[in-house]
Amino acid sequence: ARLAILLSGRGSNMVALVQAVQHGVLQNLAEVAVVFSNKPEAPGLKTAAALGCPTASLGSQDRKRAEFDAEVVDVLRQYQPDYVVLAGYMRILSPTFIRAFAGRILNIHPADTHQHQGLHAYEWAFENQLPETKITVHLVDEGLDTGPILAQHPVDLRGVDTLAEVERRGLAVEHTLYADTLAGLLRGQLRISNEELRIGSADS
Ligand code: GRF
Repeated sequence: ARLAILLSGRGSNMVALVQAVQHGVLQNLAEVAVVFSNKPEAPGLKTAAALGCPTASLGSQDRKRAEFDAEVVDVLRQYQPDYVVLAGYMRILSPTFIRAFAGRILNIHPADTHQHQGLHAYEWAFENQLPETKITVHLVDEGLDTGPILAQHPVDLRGVDTLAEVERRGLAVEHTLYADTLAGLLRGQLRISNEELRIGSADS
């Protein structure tokens, strides 16, 4: 399967996915069609190029969401992706985008999406002194961090006393969970219920 990986920043999840494609669990299952960013200066883009991936970008600053997303869809289609894999893509996707790749967009969220949505999930876990948080890989629909859960994995937070340590432990889980989940999906080992995808509701 061809993957389009979307990022806005550092890209550590992108690196983990590319390594899994090159010599890990995604070998012979996936190829990286493109690494795309809405921030032309994102450090993750350079890293992707250094890893040998095709890259593309379109600056989203001051752009209207639907208009911008329509252009992104055009760019991505040139690379014929089977899946769009969000890896720290810091932009809410418009219905235009979601419908173009309905049921084929994945996201990784650093919390249980039933408990915490949106930004600052590690801060939330740290400030609430949770003994454990969960990393979630889910299909993306038109809600914010809603959509069918494909996989979750716990992060043991006992004994952490800095936010940096929460993030360090969480990212270690993210980096294996994302590739493992994609591998399961591509092997047909995950069951996805289309009913749960909230796409194309009458009012939008
Ligand atoms: C990760 O924590 C991911 O779960 C969240 O954004 C962060 C991206 O980090 N969606 P990176 O750019 O992959 O290093």
